[in-house]
Amino acid sequence: MESIEYLKEESGFFGKYGGKYIPETIRPTMDELAATFDALKHDAVFERRLKEAYAEFSGRPTPFTPLKNLSKNLGAKIYMKNEGMNLTGAHKINHCIGQILLAQEMGKTRIIAETGAGQHGYATATVAARFGMKCTIYMGKKDYERQRPNVFWMELLGAEVIPVESGDESLNDAVIAAFKDLISDPEQAFYLLGSAVGPDPYPRMNAHFQSVVGKEILETCESKFGREPDRIYACVGGGSNALGAFLPFLKRTTRLMAIEAGGKGEEAGEHARRFTHGKPGVFEGYHGYFLQDEDGNISSTHSISAGLDYCGVSPLLSDLYDSGRIESGFATDEETLEAVKRLAKEEGLIIALESAHALAALLKDSDGFQEDEIIVLNGSGRGEKDLFISMKAFQPEALESYAKTLIKT
Ligand SMILES: Cc1ncc(COP(=O)(O)O)c(C=O)c1O
Repeated sequence: MESIEYLKEESGFFGKYGGKYIPETIRPTMDELAATFDALKHDAVFERRLKEAYAEFSGRPTPFTPLKNLSKNLGAKIYMKNEGMNLTGAHKINHCIGQILLAQEMGKTRIIAETGAGQHGYATATVAARFGMKCTIYMGKKDYERQRPNVFWMELLGAEVIPVESGDESLNDAVIAAFKDLISDPEQAFYLLGSAVGPDPYPRMNAHFQSVVGKEILETCESKFGREPDRIYACVGGGSNALGAFLPFLKRTTRLMAIEAGGKGEEAGEHARRFTHGKPGVFEGYHGYFLQDEDGNISSTHSISAGLDYCGVSPLLSDLYDSGRIESGFATDEETLEAVKRLAKEEGLIIALESAHALAALLKDSDGFQEDEIIVLNGSGRGEKDLFISMKAFQPEALESYAKTLIKT
C-alpha cells in the first residue's frame, strides 16, 4: 500500500504520545514484531498477499453507499463507507488479516487477543481458523455477557473465549489478561491486538492496515466528485476505524470528526469521552489520553456500545487532537439508539451501535451543512451483533417473551 507520511515514525512516538512502556520480558517480542512489520510493510510479496486476502477473503472494496433520504432531508450529499459488509461484519478484519500474515512470517503458532464488542475477537477467531492457528480470546465478563452472539461464533470457529472477572470486567481488563498471557508464552504466542492502541508498533501498525479504508474513500470521492469529501465522521473506541478513515486525509482540508461515547452523563464512569474529560497518562504500554481520577487511577467507563467502552485512546489520535487536526464530538446512548432507528427506517441499513455514535453526531451537526457538501459516515460495522441490546431498548417485552420461549423449547 502507498505509504502515509504520518506513519513513517518508526520511533513509535507521535508528538509526545505513543512509546513502548512494557515489562523487559516482552521487550524482545515487541522489538521483533516492530522489526518484522517495518521490513514487510512495503514488501511487494507481503503487500500482494495482504491485498489478495482483503479481496478474496474479506470482500474488499466495501461499498460507498449514498444515503439518499438522509441527504434529501438534511440538505447535503451524505454517503456511508460500509465496513459492515466485510467478512465478520466490521472493519476489525482489516488489521486481523494484516497481523495474522505477520504472525505467520514470524513462525508463531498461537494467537491471543482481547475483545470488547466481540467484533475483534470474532474477526481474530476467523483468521486464526483460516490460517490454522490456535486461538485464545480474553473478554471482560460484562462484555462476554452482553455480546453473547459473538462469543458463540468465536467458539464455533475453534477459539477458547475466557471471561475476565477482574477490574470493571470490560475491555481494559481483557487487555491486561492478554498481556499476561503473552508474558507467559512469548515464544509461541502472537498478541493480535484489536485497535490502534498498546505499545509500539501496534498503534502505527494497525493504523497502517486500516488505512485501506481511507484510501478507498479518497479514490471513490476523486473519481465520483473530482475532489475529497468535506467531512468524515467516525466513532472512536481505541481509534482503529477512525484512523483508517482519516489517515489519507491528514494533509488535505477534509474535516475529521472523531466521535466518542457520551454514555448516560458527564460524571466519571458514565461515559468514555477521553479527549475532553481525560488527560495524558501512561497505561497498557502507551502514552495517550486516559480517563483517570486526580490521583491518576484509571476511571471506569460506560457506553451502550461495548466497542467504545474503553478508558484510553490511540496515541496517534491523542497527538492529532492536540494539534487540532481532528475535532472531537460525542453522542449519548439515547441519541445513538435514535440514530440506529433512523438509518434503518430511512435507508434500510442497520449499523452497529459503535458506528451509530458517528451518525448521531452527524445528525446533530446537520443544521450547519451546505447543499453541495460531501459528508462521509464511516460505518465501521453492521448492527446484527447488537440484536439483544437494541431489542431490550426498543421492544423489551418482545425480548422477554422470546427469552422465555427459548428456555422452554
Ligand atoms: C463495529 C465497531 N466499530 C468501532 C469499534 C471501536 O473500535 P476502534 O475505535 O478501534 O475502531 C468497534 C470495537 O469493537 C466495533 O466493533
